Amino acid sequence: MRKRSSTIIIKLWVVLFSSLFFWACLNKKNLNSTTNHQTILDADLNYYDHIQPILQEHCVHCHSDAKNKVAPFSLTTFGEVQKRTKMIQYVIENNIMPPWPANPNYRHFKNENYLSEKKKIYITTWIMQGAKEGTPNAINDEVVIKKNEVPGVTLQIKDTFYLPAGNKDLFQRFALDQKWLNEQLPIKIRKFRFLPGNKKIVHHTEFLKGKIKDKSNIDKEDFENLLSTLKNEYIDKKSPLSIDYVTGWFPGIIVDELPDGIYIELDTGFHYFFLIHYAPSPVTEKDFTRLEIYPYDKNIQQARRAESFSLHGHSHLINDEKFLIPKNEKKTLHATKKIDKDISVYSILAHMHHVATSVLAYAITPEKDTVPLLKIDHWDFDWQMEYKLDEFLILPQDTEVHFIVEYDNTDNNTERPLPPKDIPYSFDADDEMMELFLHYVETQEKDKGLKVPWPQ
Ligand code: HEC
Repeated sequence: MRKRSSTIIIKLWVVLFSSLFFWACLNKKNLNSTTNHQTILDADLNYYDHIQPILQEHCVHCHSDAKNKVAPFSLTTFGEVQKRTKMIQYVIENNIMPPWPANPNYRHFKNENYLSEKKKIYITTWIMQGAKEGTPNAINDEVVIKKNEVPGVTLQIKDTFYLPAGNKDLFQRFALDQKWLNEQLPIKIRKFRFLPGNKKIVHHTEFLKGKIKDKSNIDKEDFENLLSTLKNEYIDKKSPLSIDYVTGWFPGIIVDELPDGIYIELDTGFHYFFLIHYAPSPVTEKDFTRLEIYPYDKNIQQARRAESFSLHGHSHLINDEKFLIPKNEKKTLHATKKIDKDISVYSILAHMHHVATSVLAYAITPEKDTVPLLKIDHWDFDWQMEYKLDEFLILPQDTEVHFIVEYDNTDNNTERPLPPKDIPYSFDADDEMMELFLHYVETQEKDKGLKVPWPQ
């Protein structure tokens, strides 16, 4: 697949760079034998004392056998790690694992996960020394695995879906049992968990809500038809439909858990549905994807309703530029939108497809202060994270949010869709998007300097 070849090229660059770095470290050590890195190289390393704690902290929440873990294999025992040392060395030296696309020098996040150079050297040195086991100690693998809770409601696609064999991505919309859902509404939610039925083909899933804009007079049947051709309705400003994002599952996110005391509300008057992006498969595959909803405890006082500020590239480009990335060209698009009330942001999410290469988001307050939001130097379609803030970020009314995305629709970008074409804006994976979401609650006095109460 295209993705593979581009990954390999990126990997090669990173190998080169990281080996240079590694040798630079070694050389430095020759000059100064008391550096930390030298100490690591000289130490007699073993799995239980030196490696397991690092993997527990940085890898095991994805790589374990627990239900619904995202990674394809577990790294919780010595045996599981030992038989993959070559692969582990490769992904670590190339900064492929743990996946963390955001630039930590621009803004730190609560959920950031990357290995310090020191930890990388621990792991690579341990492997070079022959990956010794050592003696098991008291670390309990179970500690990091949360007990499974019971969901309040489970939404699922109606019947098993059969994806035909082929070489095209498919975006499939699934209506939910609206009548049944309406009886449950409104629901206040503290946590969502997607259960992709078939991880081989489910690339990502969005849970969306749609309604007819107030002034349009279309009937129910037209509404259904419009939803089924979602692609254009989402983009067309004149469309009588408005579609909003509620939550989503991307590789890297399985559970969307809200901070304590904050809930998302599903209200009546909307039509809720899944939009599932299926990767192409050489053989027919089946899928049965579900979304578990964990309700908010009604007894908790002073709960705050979560809202989203969304900046859609196609409607907020500066100078009213048209969203199009011409064939064989690079293009930088700049979108901006004002915030219409004081908001306390708790997380940030960006969404693009394969032609995007880098992302920059910042805000300019009415006092002209620039607030960094998110910087991704190498956009990676496969790792679209929710970036969680450690403290509420208060953005006052009339703050301007800026969102700048670089796209590369030339041969330099081995991920671009082939055959080459002008790339418009749409949900299709071969087209592009430019979405920035700031998840927030309305500001209260106490938010200043307040830690976001993320569940432990
Ligand atoms: C956010 C979840 C997540 C974290 C954290 C994570 N991994 Fe992974 N890892 C994955 C997924 C998903 C894959 C499969 C990716 C794919 O097939 O492209 C993977 C693949 C791998 C592979 C196989 C790579 C290949 O090319 O087949 C190795 C080795 C690996 N991870 C090691 C690690 C190590 C070591 C850590 C911690 C330092 C780590 N991972 C942290 C999710 C994660």
